[in-house]
Amino acid sequence: MPYRNLTPSALPLKDRHQYLLGGVGPRPIAFVGSLSAAGLPNLAPFSFFNAFGANPVIIGISPAYSGRTGEPKDTMLNIQATGEFTVSIVSYPMVRQMQLAAGEYPPGVSEFEVSGLTPLPSLKVSPPAVAESPFVMECTFDRHIELGGDKGSGNLLLGEVVQYRIKEEVFGDDGHIDPYKMDQVGRHNLGWYSRSREGLFSIDRRQTDQAVGFQALPADLLTSTVLTGNDLALLAGVPEVPQDAEVPGDLNARLEGMSTGDRHREIKGLIEAGDLEGAWAVGLMEDAG
Ligand SMILES: Cc1cc2nc3c(=O)[nH]c(=O)nc-3n(C[C@H](O)[C@H](O)[C@H](O)COP(=O)(O)O)c2cc1C
Repeated sequence: MPYRNLTPSALPLKDRHQYLLGGVGPRPIAFVGSLSAAGLPNLAPFSFFNAFGANPVIIGISPAYSGRTGEPKDTMLNIQATGEFTVSIVSYPMVRQMQLAAGEYPPGVSEFEVSGLTPLPSLKVSPPAVAESPFVMECTFDRHIELGGDKGSGNLLLGEVVQYRIKEEVFGDDGHIDPYKMDQVGRHNLGWYSRSREGLFSIDRRQTDQAVGFQALPADLLTSTVLTGNDLALLAGVPEVPQDAEVPGDLNARLEGMSTGDRHREIKGLIEAGDLEGAWAVGLMEDAG
C-alpha cells in the first residue's frame, strides 16, 4: 500500500500542524472561560482538550504560543495569573456562536458580547462559564507542562474539576447522560466539525475574524423565538453591516403588515438560502421603522 511517510520534525510547522489536525479528530471542544488579573472576562475555544483522570478529576487544554510571534494566548496568561478557569462543552446549537468568539478582537472587547453567549456565574471559581452549554466544569489550575517553549509550541495546562454543572435536560430516563441530548460537536481540520449524532459539517472560517458581532444585530432579532443562536451567528459573522442591501424579490410588498414572527421566518429562509445580505436588509427594515 502506498503511504505518505513523513517525519514531523522535518516538515514546515504549518504542515505538521495540519496533518495532526486531520488525523486526530474529532476532538472535543473546551470553551474556556477565564479572568484577567484585572478581572476582565475572556472566552476562547480549545480543541486540544481532553480528560485525563477521575481521582481527582483532571482535564487538560493546550493553548499554543503563536506560530507567528511566539506570544502566549490570553487564556493561558489568565489561568496562570488567577489559578482558575471554566470549561463549557460545545454543543451543536451554540457552535456558530463559539466560532465567533474565536476571532481576534481588540483588548476590551468581550467575546461574550461579540458571540451573544450568556455568562453563567460559577459556583466555586470566579470566571464565568457559558449558560448555553449543557455541561460545564469549574476548574482550579493544577500544572503547566511546556511542550517545546517555541513559536507554535503547545502548553498543556491541567486543571482539577471542582464542580460539574450538568443541565437536567441532557439526562435520559436511565439517569445517565444521553449523548443524543448532549448533541456535542467535535473539531477536525480546516473548517470541518462533526455533530456526534449526525456526522460532518463545515463552517466558513473567513466569517470569524472581523465579525460585526451580536452587538450589531437589530434588537428584535435577539429575542426572536424563530431565529436560533446559529442563525444569528451567521448574520453577526459579516465583516460589516450591509448598508444598502436590497430586500429580495417580491418580499418588499409582502412585508407590509407582516407579523414579527413571519418576518423572522422570512429572514431565516434567506439565511438558510445563503443570502445574508437579503436577510440583513429585511432585518434592518423593521429596526428602522
Ligand atoms: C474550534 C476551535 C478550536 C481551537 N483550538 C485551539 C487549541 O486547541 N489551541 C490553541 O492554541 N488555539 C485553538 N483555537 C484558537 C483559539 O481559540 C484562538 O486563538 C483564540 O483567539 C484564543 O483566545 P485568547 O487569546 O483569548 O486565549 C481554536 C479555535 C477554534 C475555533
